[in-house]
Amino acid sequence: MKMRSQWGTRAGFILAAVGSAVGLGNIWRFPATAYDSGGGAFFIPYLFALLTAGIPLLIMEFTIGHKYRGSAPLSFARLNKKTEWLGWWAVFVSFVISTYYAVIIAWAIMYSYYSFNLNWGADPEGFLFSEYLQLSVDPGQAGSFVPSVLIPLIFVWVIVLGVLLAGVKKGIEVANRIFIPTLMVIFLIIVIRAVTLPGAAEGLDAFFSPDFSAIADPTVWVAAYGQIFFSLSIAFAIMITYSSYLSKKSDITNNAFIVGFGNSSFELLAGIGVFSVLGFMATSQGVAVDEVVAGGVGLAFVVFPAIINEFPTMPQLFGFLFFASLVLAGLSSMISIVETYVAGFSEKFNVSRRKAVFFGGGLAALVSLLFATQGGLFFLDAADYFINQFGVAFVGLVEVVVIAWFVRKLKVFQTHANAVSDIRLGSWWIACLGLITPLVLGYMMFGLFKQNLLKEFDTETGNYEGYTDGFILFGGWFVAAGALILGFLFMMKKWKPEVLAMDTTKEDE
Ligand code: ALA
Repeated sequence: MKMRSQWGTRAGFILAAVGSAVGLGNIWRFPATAYDSGGGAFFIPYLFALLTAGIPLLIMEFTIGHKYRGSAPLSFARLNKKTEWLGWWAVFVSFVISTYYAVIIAWAIMYSYYSFNLNWGADPEGFLFSEYLQLSVDPGQAGSFVPSVLIPLIFVWVIVLGVLLAGVKKGIEVANRIFIPTLMVIFLIIVIRAVTLPGAAEGLDAFFSPDFSAIADPTVWVAAYGQIFFSLSIAFAIMITYSSYLSKKSDITNNAFIVGFGNSSFELLAGIGVFSVLGFMATSQGVAVDEVVAGGVGLAFVVFPAIINEFPTMPQLFGFLFFASLVLAGLSSMISIVETYVAGFSEKFNVSRRKAVFFGGGLAALVSLLFATQGGLFFLDAADYFINQFGVAFVGLVEVVVIAWFVRKLKVFQTHANAVSDIRLGSWWIACLGLITPLVLGYMMFGLFKQNLLKEFDTETGNYEGYTDGFILFGGWFVAAGALILGFLFMMKKWKPEVLAMDTTKEDE
């Protein structure tokens, strides 16, 4: 039996797990989500979701990977043959996410380059949609390729697949040892500059002033859970895969707390940085902060370039550092997302890492070309919305319910984690995963299905973003359901008995 790859050191694993967690979600998604959900009031649902679902689930996923020592599908197959589909479902959710996540990193690469000449000019919105993305087709149509997206996209895939080809210790660990400290330094420079800008206090005030009326709003809770899951890379198959490369004596619970709090600290820092510059922009335009704020694509690729234009000194450098930080954070997460299916395919089909990287990564790279077309942004938006809500969050719910209530493994996992960890898991952990998370997340998923199926979004079409029924069906539901269906199909293929058997070879510790 082949020896399983392993991290070189504990710090190597922690850096890789933090590298996975800290990503586009922290810099791009969190600040706008927090603001939309009532600024300061968001922290209560956010902290609740982090402490009762995020960290407990992270501990559970670390324990599964550490105990069963396989990719997510192999770990679930070893846990109980009937649960293998759950591992594949998470793997295919990651597969879909990787195909568009790569494209956002590609945009950030181009924008790092554009920063040198502030190419977006006085109208960053027009520049993004018309000149850069050339968005001139209806949703559902592809049009032709956009070379300025396609070329950096190929570059992203070459880096990610190159790192994965080099393996766990020499590839993933080395890349994160370089990317994460560099990212931290760049980000600290950005945040220090941001909070010292005139008007920063106004932005921070908008970010931190509590709006307690928002706490009663269920959509704020949905947003908090969605953010925690996406941001911590849980229910993506990632943390199971990464912890399967830990040595048998590694700590689980302490590592999970370090990764969970490390990620949230970075997230908070990103929020402080982003809202400081929004405050600066609002003050210089003489408007309120909520008039300059925008979410998602708009925040990073429209509002930021506009702010960079107004920068008192060295706007080019600030622009470059901001987009470079998106690239670094994005790449380290992207590596972890692709590793889930590289590991899964290599074990299921009993092929080398090399072949799994070429076929798995190659296929995802091909699919991602769709997002480098003129209609790419619409496909990206629909796939992102559906796969996050009905992929990540739903996988998370099903995962806790199956483990707590069907295979009833929480006690076994608690004993396993406690045997190797400094921090002992008490009954709070079982209560969080067995009761609180299924109830709160179940309620939230019910509301989400209702909202999407009853079409409560748009007064005319009723659909999310007003997209047509056909586009929602194929670009959204089909993508999200496809991940689950593929999960069941892949489960039908039998494992080679020597792969399914637990690895009992001695470790190279
Ligand atoms: N956890 C990664 C992020 O936040 C996927 O972007």
